[in-house]
Amino acid sequence: MISEDRKKHIWGVAKFLKRYAQEENMSQDDIHSLYLLGLLHDIGYEFLDEKDYITHNVVGGGIFKVSRL
Ligand SMILES: [Fe+2]
Repeated sequence: MISEDRKKHIWGVAKFLKRYAQEENMSQDDIHSLYLLGLLHDIGYEFLDEKDYITHNVVGGGIFKVSRL
């Protein structure tokens, strides 16, 4: 079960990345990709010890970077 705080965090990251991509005049595909990455980046928690939580975004992003190859 995802906590309410986690849900707020996930939506906040997704909205932030979408806004960033729009401000940088990225393509619609890249805007959508960054928004999706924001929604899914917390998957990184599944592959880390609790003490390493600060790198969850790097791990989560790495999973999706590999999947685009
Ligand atoms: Fe996160």
